[in-house]
Amino acid sequence: MTHPRTLRADYAKPTSAVCVVGSVLNVNLNRSAPPGAKFFSVKCTDNVQYTLNPPPQETSHLAPIPLRGNSVLLISMSRASQSENDSKISVQYYGNNKEVLGKAVLHLTAVEISLDVDADRDGVVEKNNPNKSSWKWGPTGHGAILLVNCDSEQTYVKKLDSEQDYVSKASDLQDMSPMVLRTKGPAKLPKGYKLTMHMSQGDAESVRVFRTKSPDVNSSMAEKVLSKYFLRDYPLVLSREVLSQEVPYLGGEAEMRFYVEGLRFPDKDFNGLISINLSLLEPVNEGLPETPIFTDKVVFRVAPWIMTPNTLKPVEVFVCSTSDNYQFLKGMRNLVGMSGYKLKICHEYENRGDRWMQDELEFGYIDSPHHGFPVVLDSPRDGDLMDFPYNDLLGPDFGYVTRTAQRKDVSSLDSFGNLEVSPPVTVRGKHYPLGRIIIGVAFPTATKGRNMTKVVQEFLWAQKVQEPIALFSDWLIVGHVDEFMSFVPAPDRKGFRLLLASPDAAYKLFRGLQRDGHGKAKLFDGLNDVQQITVNELLEDEQFQSENDYVQNCIDWNRDVLKRELGLDDEDIIDLPILFKLEEDKQVHRAVAFYPDMVNMIVLGKNLGIPKPFGPRVNGRCALEAEMCSLMEGLGLSCTFIDDFASYHKLLGEVHCGSNVRREPFAFKWWNLEM
Ligand SMILES: *[C@@H]1O[C@H](CO)[C@@H](O)[C@H](O)[C@H]1NC(C)=O
Ligand SMILES: *[C@@H]1O[C@H](CO)[C@@H](O)[C@H](O)[C@H]1NC(C)=O
Ligand SMILES: *[C@@H]1O[C@H](CO)[C@@H](O)[C@H](O)[C@H]1NC(C)=O
Ligand SMILES: *[C@@H]1O[C@H](CO)[C@@H](O)[C@H](O)[C@H]1NC(C)=O
Ligand SMILES: *[C@@H]1O[C@H](CO)[C@@H](O)[C@H](O)[C@H]1NC(C)=O
Repeated sequence: MTHPRTLRADYAKPTSAVCVVGSVLNVNLNRSAPPGAKFFSVKCTDNVQYTLNPPPQETSHLAPIPLRGNSVLLISMSRASQSENDSKISVQYYGNNKEVLGKAVLHLTAVEISLDVDADRDGVVEKNNPNKSSWKWGPTGHGAILLVNCDSEQTYVKKLDSEQDYVSKASDLQDMSPMVLRTKGPAKLPKGYKLTMHMSQGDAESVRVFRTKSPDVNSSMAEKVLSKYFLRDYPLVLSREVLSQEVPYLGGEAEMRFYVEGLRFPDKDFNGLISINLSLLEPVNEGLPETPIFTDKVVFRVAPWIMTPNTLKPVEVFVCSTSDNYQFLKGMRNLVGMSGYKLKICHEYENRGDRWMQDELEFGYIDSPHHGFPVVLDSPRDGDLMDFPYNDLLGPDFGYVTRTAQRKDVSSLDSFGNLEVSPPVTVRGKHYPLGRIIIGVAFPTATKGRNMTKVVQEFLWAQKVQEPIALFSDWLIVGHVDEFMSFVPAPDRKGFRLLLASPDAAYKLFRGLQRDGHGKAKLFDGLNDVQQITVNELLEDEQFQSENDYVQNCIDWNRDVLKRELGLDDEDIIDLPILFKLEEDKQVHRAVAFYPDMVNMIVLGKNLGIPKPFGPRVNGRCALEAEMCSLMEGLGLSCTFIDDFASYHKLLGEVHCGSNVRREPFAFKWWNLEM
């Protein structure tokens, strides 16, 4: 309930007021009394309720009541007026001997005004929800939701819908949140009264408001502003340029529909909350500004950008076609076809030889109770694939967002092989039903390491619903978390397993082969242009062993962080036999996979597409593939090995780096998170 509005009543001449149903008017009786008044009595019509303060001793208000210095009349009205001045309240004043000294008459016109939103999050705008002016997380929470209109309904020149301040297609309205102004009252507001909608300068950076053009009202200022555009059915009401605008009062019982458009995602300087006010203004005098006598306020939160983990159902798989990756494409085609999903190929004229589909973009989505769609986050990496997200993915109901950074601030760690998300987890009692984002940065003690650029980190943290975890990935030449970890679905425990690359597991496997008399089996058997090496030679190389001990330390450091931040036990983790080698780059030694890095896989439901490791053959079967299959079989997962050796592995990437998967959104609604 808002504070009562102080009003003047005059015994010398009748006055009038507009009272908004649900609000209270406050008349100081002493202030408006004739000189010498000692008593008063009150009369009103049936649509008016009043109370006196202090409450009188007398039982009947018709009998004169002693007037005190602080006597106050509090007035409210229970329903809208049919016509102007159709209600009234009058105060009669008496002198010492109860003789009548005068009468103050107040003519009243009641209107109902409610600015309404979908505060209960059921996809429908309800009427006057008492919680509409605040926002609360959780299944018992409330507060309306706004989408960033970051898709593109444009047919000719592609442009984000949020970049134009008019509605070009009715389908664009779907991406906006409905808001309804409900009014009830006389056919017209008393002279000089008007309704205005307003918001703050800060909020206007993040939101825009359109309305439907009412058929029975002549064009307002908004329509004049917009007249240069051909689509005049949805006049712009509020924007960065117009923070306050009169909106028509339709008269009788009426609803006017508005559309609220989100313009930007939560970020470091924007917590995602915006509010919109609607006020009834009262004229004072010709030439003086009107004063607001009633304000209704609604609050929205802009929907965050949400990532999708490997455990969600795939929709489409993306890969690049290059002049040299025929073998890889063939493998991917088989796997994706067999799994029953769509394979989308980005052709060479567009990828210009850049095959790292994982690195240029990350698929995610935005959601609200009324609508939702996929949104691609475009990496500041900007390789030769840089135009693909905007040119090919952005479209109707496919959104686009990016963060731009200075060229000098962008490193290999800004590629999105270094941006992953865990399946849902519970950590020390705290639920993360949308999982947690995982990025790789420099080791905390490193004096000068590479990091993921600030603007992207800030964006990720500001989304809030998948609270990020920073791992140490700068020990790798390429520096991506997907070089040493992945998640696969599992039928038991937490519903998934964390897979980690493990040199220790590899050494154990190779020592076992040597013990069993397979020391002469060769790695890279059957490959051209690659130095083959026997199990015995590999195990004899002490330098190589010490490099892999270092790598195991780096991975173990991350293992501990992941166990702590995802609430995992050792039973939730599977070590995969993978070896690395160190190479010197600008006097820094960093690691890269020695043979195809099996953890860098694509996960399509129960089917895994794994880089073919070319390990030593035992009884005609690759020992690394056999080990991998036996580790995954227990989880009901099936392994398909894809030959990416020449076209990816030798270029320091693998299957995961060279592919991307758009997945279905979570069934869990982000606004139901308990924060
Ligand atoms: C309503 O009452 C006010 C004050 O008494 C008066 O000025 C105004 O003209 C009235 N309006 C109508 C439509 O009667
Ligand atoms: C308003 O919010 C409070 C606190 O979240 C809740 O208890 C109440 O049921 C809500 N009222 C309505 C009408 O949604
Ligand atoms: C909106 O209304 C609220 C509450 O009445 C007020 O605190 C706020 O300053 C108003 N904001 C604008 C931009 O008018
Ligand atoms: C609307 O505008 C036209 C032309 O300016 C005018 O003739 C007409 O009376 C107006 N109608 C209303 C309802 O104000
Ligand atoms: C890199 O990012 C991490 C995680 O946000 C941060 O803690 C660290 O300070 C950053 N390091 C540098 C050198 O900027």
